[in-house]
Order: sequence, then C-alpha cells, then structure tokens
Amino acid sequence: MPAITEMTLPELPLERADFCADPMPFVEAARQHHPWLARFSAGYIVHGYKAHAELLPQDDKLQPGLGGIVEYYGLQGTHWARFMNEMMVGQSGATHQRLRASVQGAFTPRSANTARPRMRAVVSHLLDEWAPRGTFDFADFASYFPVAVMCGLLGVPVGNIPGIKHALELQIASLTLDRAMIPAFLAGHDALWEWTGELVRAREASGAHDDGLLDALIAAKTAGQLDETELRFMLMVLLVAGYDTSKNLLTLTMNMMLDRPAMWQRCAVDKAFCAQVVEEMLRHSTIATFYRTVVEEFMYDDVLFTKGQMIIFATPLAGRDPTAFPDPMLFNPERVNTNRHVSFGRGAHICLGMFIARAQLEEGLHLIAQRLKNPRLAGPRQWRLFLPAWGLRELPIAFEPAPAG
Ligand code: HEM
Repeated sequence: MPAITEMTLPELPLERADFCADPMPFVEAARQHHPWLARFSAGYIVHGYKAHAELLPQDDKLQPGLGGIVEYYGLQGTHWARFMNEMMVGQSGATHQRLRASVQGAFTPRSANTARPRMRAVVSHLLDEWAPRGTFDFADFASYFPVAVMCGLLGVPVGNIPGIKHALELQIASLTLDRAMIPAFLAGHDALWEWTGELVRAREASGAHDDGLLDALIAAKTAGQLDETELRFMLMVLLVAGYDTSKNLLTLTMNMMLDRPAMWQRCAVDKAFCAQVVEEMLRHSTIATFYRTVVEEFMYDDVLFTKGQMIIFATPLAGRDPTAFPDPMLFNPERVNTNRHVSFGRGAHICLGMFIARAQLEEGLHLIAQRLKNPRLAGPRQWRLFLPAWGLRELPIAFEPAPAG
C-alpha cells in the first residue's frame, strides 16, 4: 500500500483567488484522480465526506497537535506557543476530557435555548444601529454579531466589543500559515491574554453573579477543575472558536439569500424555516478547515498515513460530496438528510459551541430578515482565504430598512 508521501495526488490551490471564490470546480477535477484526498502547498487535505466521518473519531491516531503550527512558524518558547500547546483544542486524551468537562455544562442544548432571549436582545440592539443605514457591508455587520453574543453570554459590557473584535481578528491570523502575520497574531494574543485576566479579576472582585458562562468557568476554577491559566485560555478559545465561524456562516447565508428572495421573506415570518436554512447552509456552504497530525502510523482506504504528517480536514468541501448528498450543489432547506453534515467536526473535538451557534444563527437570521427588506448586492464581493475559515471578506448590500416589529 502506498505511503501518503509517495502517492501521486491532485493539488488544490487553496491560496488562489479563484479557488476561494468557488472551490468546487477544483474539487470536482481533483476527485477524478482521488475520491477524497489531495495535496496543498503545506501538506495533505481530506475533502471527502466519508473520510471526514470515519477519520475524525480516530483521536488515538490523529490529534490536533497544534505544536506543528508553532514549529512551522518557529515560535517555540513564546506565550502564544504555550497557548497553542496547552489550550483545550490542542489537547488529547485525559487532559482534553478534563478541560472540556469543566465547561461542557454551559454548552448543552438547554443552555443554548435559555440564552435565546439574550441573543435576540443583542441582535436587536445591533440592528437598531445598523438597519437605518439602508446599505452596509454585511460582513462588517456580521463581525459584531458573535462577539456581541459571546460578550452578552459572559456579561461583558458592550463598550469592550470593538477592542475584543480587533484582538480576535489578529489572533486568528495565526491559522493562515502566513509568516508575514506573526507580529499581528502575537499582538492579538497578548491583548486577549491581558483582557481575560482583567475580566476574571473584575468579576471575582465584584462578587457579582449572573449564572452565565463566566460564573461557570470561575466555579470550575474554585472547584479545582481549572487553574487560572487554563481558565483564561478557555475564555480565549471560546471567543476565537465562535468568532470567524459564526460571522462567516451568517455572511454566507446572506449571500445565498440575495438570489432567493422568497426564502428571505419566509425567514422573516417562520423561525422553524430559519433553522432549516441554517442546517442546509452548514451542509452546503460551511466554513471550517482544521488540522490534525498523524501520531501513530495507520492505514485507511488504501492510504498509509505516516507518523508526523500534517493533514487538514476541509468541511466546506465534504458537504458537497455527491457520494453523501444527492444533487449536492443544490441549496435546498427541505432536504431530508442535511444534518448528517460534518460542519461541526466529529469525535472528541466536535464543536462545543454547536448549540449556541445554531441558536444564534437562527435567532439572528429571523430578526435580520425582518429588518432588512429586499436585500441586494451593492458592490463587488470579496472572498476570504480558504484557510482557516472560508467565507466573504466583504459583502456590500442595499435594502429597505424596516422598523422593529
Ligand atoms: C457556524 C458556527 C460554527 C462552526 C461551523 C464550528 C465548527 C467547529 C468545528 C469543525 C470544530 C472541530 C475542530 C476540530 O475538530 O479540530 C469546532 C470546535 C470547537 N468549537 Fe465550533 N463552530 C462554530 C461555532 C462555535 C461557537 C459559537 C463556539 C463557542 C461559543 C464554538 C466553540 C468551539 C470549541 C470550544 C471547539 C473546540 C472543542 C474541543 O476541542 O473539544 N464553536 N467548531
């Protein structure tokens, strides 16, 4: 059986602008040579649905190993490297389980539903400010949305939002594998580290409680489940993991709806339909691509995965695999098997925030459709890089503002 390094595999040009604008023709061509695996400039990329579903649960063989990214940048010994090596997403086995268990209770379907009124309040507040403009860059609007929701869940004052948003954008640049971004993401990391320290100190000193996420994390520290550094890293992970993901998915949803005015009108009056739209978006046009390192040699579907290889999993490509979803290019919220998608990953690291993500996107879509009538494109779309979170960098729209109902 061929080792992955010796295989002749098609190459996917992830950095190219035409790939970012529409990756599917490239993937369809690549499938002619291998059904689920390709190369990219820095390693190997899994794009098939079945390979995602079957490989991701194999946590003993494939681990996030974010140390590979630290080495790639040559930044061993920095505080950012400590974050990458010690925070939950980079952990495996018992340490990962302990860290995840310390916050799991705050991420159940029930807690996401309890947070819905807070989410609606945050979105309505944002819309009061943005909707009267009649035209804006929807990607810019959407960038405030997940930070505002997370700040709402953490009980953080809205005045902190722009600073946090800026620091998040810098920190996330570390996942682009672009060495020119090193000073920017180190600065973003330092800012978030300082901010989380102040946040925890202020809450502990005030003695205030709102039974929200921050209280749950502080309680985990008091109970000895987390130390101070782990608590602050956890806050940073939650903000980072929930930011680009929700913002990009919401922007892609708006983009999809621009050509589907009847669906947009229905979203304004039918929240159950919003949930179907969100789920089909998660299948059809999702965003996350993430890393694994092979920690133990193994064979899968005639491919020998050799130790030390870095592999990326591309959920935006897996959702349009024709072997998993009939007529995969068609966007159809009535589709029956949509929720088999791998948009939230699989296995031990499956998205912790998936219920919050769904709830905030459904609530957001419903309210936005009520306030932005007849949305249309008002300028050129600009696409983001495919790695690590695909989507639109700019989506200028015009619309008729409608008052809050
Ligand atoms: C549309 C929105 C979202 C998408 C598509 C998404 C997708 C994902 C994916 C694919 C993973 C697995 C990564 C891996 O296996 O390495 C993941 C993990 C994670 N997500 Fe999300 N996510 C979304 C929103 C959120 C939100 C809103 C939060 C927080 C409130 C969040 C928190 C997390 C955390 C903490 C992890 C790491 C879990 C672990 O390592 O055990 N996500 N997400």
